[in-house]
Amino acid sequence: MAGNIESSGATAPRPLAGRTALITPPGTSRMRVIANELKEAGVHVVNFAAGELDVDTSDVIKEAAKAAIDGKRNVYTPTLGLMPLRERIAAQLSERCGTPYTAAEVGVTAGAKQALFNAAMVLLDPGDEVIIPQPYWVTFPTQVEIAGARPVFVDTRETGYRLDVASIERAVTPRTKAIVINSPNNPTGVIYDRDAIVGVAELAVRNDLWIIFDECYSELVRPGHAHTNIVAACPVAKDRTVVVNSFSKSHALTGWRIGYAAGPSRVIKAMENLQGHTTSNPCSIAQYAVIEALRSGGRDFIDDVNRRLDERLDRALAIVHSMNVMGDGIGCAPAEGAFYLFLDIRSTIGKRHGGHIIPNVGALCERILSEAKVAVVPGSAFGDPTGIRLSYAIADEDVTEGLERLRRFFAAVE
Ligand SMILES: Cc1ncc(COP(=O)(O)O)c(C=O)c1O
Repeated sequence: MAGNIESSGATAPRPLAGRTALITPPGTSRMRVIANELKEAGVHVVNFAAGELDVDTSDVIKEAAKAAIDGKRNVYTPTLGLMPLRERIAAQLSERCGTPYTAAEVGVTAGAKQALFNAAMVLLDPGDEVIIPQPYWVTFPTQVEIAGARPVFVDTRETGYRLDVASIERAVTPRTKAIVINSPNNPTGVIYDRDAIVGVAELAVRNDLWIIFDECYSELVRPGHAHTNIVAACPVAKDRTVVVNSFSKSHALTGWRIGYAAGPSRVIKAMENLQGHTTSNPCSIAQYAVIEALRSGGRDFIDDVNRRLDERLDRALAIVHSMNVMGDGIGCAPAEGAFYLFLDIRSTIGKRHGGHIIPNVGALCERILSEAKVAVVPGSAFGDPTGIRLSYAIADEDVTEGLERLRRFFAAVE
């Protein structure tokens, strides 16, 4: 009888699963949370910490979503998405890659994050190693670890945040199962050039590795630069590559959760089985809306977004180039794509600001927030304790105001 069970008293709480120790909140979210708290308290914080566009999505998408709601599109869809959506994505990819993709080689997911998680779960075994260029997007290593595998980092800082194929080759061991490539890159904004992409693809073929190719920012490219899809550059790598993409960044749809994975049909089938037991299909309304966006092309929207980002970047770089710490300029990764600026702040570490020592990048970012009222993300969130990430996808006047504040902050470091 329940009433007879005595309380066990003040014993230690029952333990959670061991894997929870591997999962900490993304380091990108802390500054955002503090910035929002300050904002709510009435402080004018310039928030460079966001990871999404500041524009509304297109009318085409909004109208299609409303039509889907009115059309009672409320029920489950197939696990990996509606066939017309998979077919359209496959057609688009076939064109971009110059090699045919079928709908069976495409699975629609709740954002790129789920596509990446699916990939980790269906490709990796405990004990496998996965090569990840560093700095990296914060979720890659965590997902690899959840799958029981081990991330192996290759530092790109000494090569201007670009891929050095020889360094990657040196990191390959008999346990290496996969390599994760993200271009345009978060956090650096660098777009890997064609030679490097081909070099990685050939290395993967030589060493029989999977390639997880995250091109979520493929549509967000600054003038004079071009994004290279790894399958387009090296079609023989198609049967070992999972291309991951999403509509979050290109269509200002982060909250709607539509992304996809494209790869060999047996990989996509395994993802279907996994997704069938985890989330099932991504949001049906969002799927119908994205079908319409693909049908209508949507180029105007993306072109407009890129135009705005170009202007903001010009404005931002003019100020960044005038920043200095004790007379030395602040370095910045080549801002070629996505909407991030990645500043090299190593010259501030160990120095003082307002009499306070700056021991590390986390403390630097907290001080920038408390003193300059500017939120940026510490590079430590991306495995780089010498950088900070700023998103320039914010209002024009905030870009100028925030960077001027930052310039004054650095000028006061001694
Ligand atoms: C490199 C990279 N991959 C994947 C994602 C996840 O995108 P989604 O919102 O589509 O899940 C992000 C989001 O910031 C990202 O920066």
